[in-house]
Amino acid sequence: MAIFCKEFMLLVVASFLIFCANGLEKFDHPIKSNGNLRFLVVGDWGRKGHYNQSAVALQMGRIGEELDIDFVVSTGDNFYSNGLTGVDDPNFLESFTNVYKAKSLQNQWYTVLGNHDYRGDAEAQLSSYLRKLDSRWICLRSFIINAEIAEIFMVDTTPFVNEYFVETEHTYDWRSVMPQKTYTENVLNDLKNALSESTAKWKIVVGHHAIRSVGHHGDTNELVDRLLPILRAYDVDLYMNGHDHCLEHISDTESGIQFLTSGAGSKAWRGDVKGLNREGMNFFYDGQGFMSVQLTQTHVQIEFYDVFGKVLHKWSRSKLLLHPII
Ligand SMILES: *[C@@H]1O[C@H](CO)[C@@H](O)[C@H](O)[C@H]1NC(C)=O
Ligand SMILES: [Zn+2]
Repeated sequence: MAIFCKEFMLLVVASFLIFCANGLEKFDHPIKSNGNLRFLVVGDWGRKGHYNQSAVALQMGRIGEELDIDFVVSTGDNFYSNGLTGVDDPNFLESFTNVYKAKSLQNQWYTVLGNHDYRGDAEAQLSSYLRKLDSRWICLRSFIINAEIAEIFMVDTTPFVNEYFVETEHTYDWRSVMPQKTYTENVLNDLKNALSESTAKWKIVVGHHAIRSVGHHGDTNELVDRLLPILRAYDVDLYMNGHDHCLEHISDTESGIQFLTSGAGSKAWRGDVKGLNREGMNFFYDGQGFMSVQLTQTHVQIEFYDVFGKVLHKWSRSKLLLHPII
């Protein structure tokens, strides 16, 4: 669909654009008959069980069971240190299939790519071959999960970060991403179109890089400049990311957006935090863990857990029904 759109846009006049209004593939994920949607969010994890990855996985399984989750969202940096070498890289089984073995984690894993994934064969992670190896695995660059009461917009943020295009320390798999400017503009246009068409009660955007973070990498300026205005304009409720190996919750000072970092799936304890007193700061934890999101038509609740499954931070908000049932 994305390729179809891109090629068409080069050729056709504006009147055709309506047919390409949304270049993002959409996955319909029906929710339970009780109307609840619950999922876990984890990021920066694939280290063959090391650095507490297995301990986090165990607790994800337990909490996942308790909450009867619908799926898992991965915020990227799925395989360390350099993504996958190809579709037959054993790291896929060693860091994913063989680690997240709990029963409650045996449903879809909706996954974006992180900067470390781009250091390997990025296209391998997108391949349908991996889906055959483990049917849970759903990884695309940018896409949408339509879960009735919520739409989750998964955004490929690595190509936005200029530094990766100039640094010489690592190589990146930029196939399909060049030229950078065209690629990122298309991502933002697709996102804008999809957000403007969305009728979902809750709008959630997921990317690998933080918009707001007080952890090691801090704010991602390219996303503050280019993505944040779109999230504000379309009343996005939550922005969730990884990249910094910690758990954090920061509220936007100019909108209702909550910035949620869940990048603590394995190696953590970086000990690098700055600006804990910044405005909107609600919670920061430097160690391993993960997050849950629980949604109904009128209510959202998020919880952060540590490596023992202990709740470290909880936040909730209600929204009135737009069309109350009389
Ligand atoms: C694993 O988690 C425990 C508890 O938070 C922590 O004390 C320990 O340092 C962690 N191990 C690593 C390798 O991060
Ligand atoms: Zn990263």
